[in-house]
Amino acid sequence: MVDTPLRLSAEEMRRLGYRAVDEVVEHLATLRERPVGSPPVRERIEGLLDVGLPDGPSDPIEVLAEAVGRVREFIVHTDHPRFLAYIPGPSTYVGAVADFIASGLNVFAGQWLVGSGPAIMERIVIDWLRTLCGLPDTGGGLFVSGGTMANLVAVHAARSESADDGGLIYVTSQTHSSIRKGLRFLGFGPDQLRVVGTDESHRMDLVSLKEQIACDRRGGYQPLCVVATAGTTNTGAVDPLDELADLCADHGLWLHVDGAYGAAAVLSDRGGDLLKGLGRADSIALDPHKWWYQPYEVGCVLVRDETTLIDAFSMNAEYLRETRHGSGPLNYYDLGPQLTRGFRALKLWMSLKTFGLDEFRKAVERGMALAEHAQDLLLKGDRWEVVTPAQLAILTFRPRVPDARPEAVDSVTRRIAAGTLEDGFALVLTTEIDERPVLRLCITHPETTVGDIEETIALLERLADEAVATQGLR
Ligand SMILES: Cc1ncc(COP(=O)(O)O)c(C=O)c1O
Repeated sequence: MVDTPLRLSAEEMRRLGYRAVDEVVEHLATLRERPVGSPPVRERIEGLLDVGLPDGPSDPIEVLAEAVGRVREFIVHTDHPRFLAYIPGPSTYVGAVADFIASGLNVFAGQWLVGSGPAIMERIVIDWLRTLCGLPDTGGGLFVSGGTMANLVAVHAARSESADDGGLIYVTSQTHSSIRKGLRFLGFGPDQLRVVGTDESHRMDLVSLKEQIACDRRGGYQPLCVVATAGTTNTGAVDPLDELADLCADHGLWLHVDGAYGAAAVLSDRGGDLLKGLGRADSIALDPHKWWYQPYEVGCVLVRDETTLIDAFSMNAEYLRETRHGSGPLNYYDLGPQLTRGFRALKLWMSLKTFGLDEFRKAVERGMALAEHAQDLLLKGDRWEVVTPAQLAILTFRPRVPDARPEAVDSVTRRIAAGTLEDGFALVLTTEIDERPVLRLCITHPETTVGDIEETIALLERLADEAVATQGLR
């Protein structure tokens, strides 16, 4: 090591960096041959990792090897082609390299004076996404840590436009929990939330929404914002965005669309039809670390009128005066909650430029087609009941167990999910629909194959047989 605190020599930096690249490439090249993961056991992990704070130095290559080994051993790989649970995180290597560059150059993307190039690059990527979503050029937005933060920023912008802090927010039972969390964080009371009904496809029911708004107005309340979802986490359902946009326009309400999962479907023609009306929203949350194939963390909030973000977030401080000088300063601290912020836009900029939009489009379409194929396979025999059909690459189903009571079927369903985690070949977990557990597939990895899906279903059938036998149901 060189004799300067906290520095490696140029040679050591290269050695460490090249080794890191080798480790990541090895990870990506061999991932599909390895298990998706295994159940975490806290005592074991702590026993191995908690070895105390070192005073003295260690060889950086050894430290890296230990870190990679431990991290790889103790994560479930959300980027595995057979990780079919939650919302997978199939990131691209290009995005990971971009993150390395952004932190290697330690880009400060919060203000103009020190980050003008990155600010313009962020603006360019935001414009790409805004255009894809159909928002007008009065719009804008910024990158944040994820969908939760994007939703929070949007709801804060909605409230800032309103004269009344007591405005009501309309959601459904299928709205992502991050909205409720965000409302609490922003100081909304539980009495400001209205949960309206859904139709048989788990989409926001317009009649129920209209009745609730009318009832609230009669009661002297001030409706503020409808939160629609473009691709719910449970079933992939898309709320009727076009009709909701009409209704919000008629009632002077802010329409926020949580497209953290599903907005990526605008890339495909079919998805574009399903998401009709998306571009009429006042704000949209989307999540490039989900179906736009970027490494964590990157979420994005887009608004129809950029001044709404400025009204909500702009700040002034004497020590930031110079950041407002120069030609056309673009200070992202004026548009969102952070001052210091990393250069999240770079990964999407590099990935989109490297692969081109058509490759992204193909990958999104592939996910949707595979979910439909999985549905066909499940419906072929008499072993499975499809509970909600393949929508935006999400499908839910449960085992058919002849003569079994619903509770017994539910227990088999949960055992199958637990069994996939123990087995490690593929991960399929549960959610609940109408208060009963269902198995759920979410297929967004561009490298998932038909063979992966067939073998996963075969695994589920074996686990179902075992669960049925263990419970003495046959
Ligand atoms: C529809 C929806 N909204 C919001 C979120 C929260 O996003 P994040 O986990 O990036 O904060 C998710 C996450 O799965 C989601 O599916």
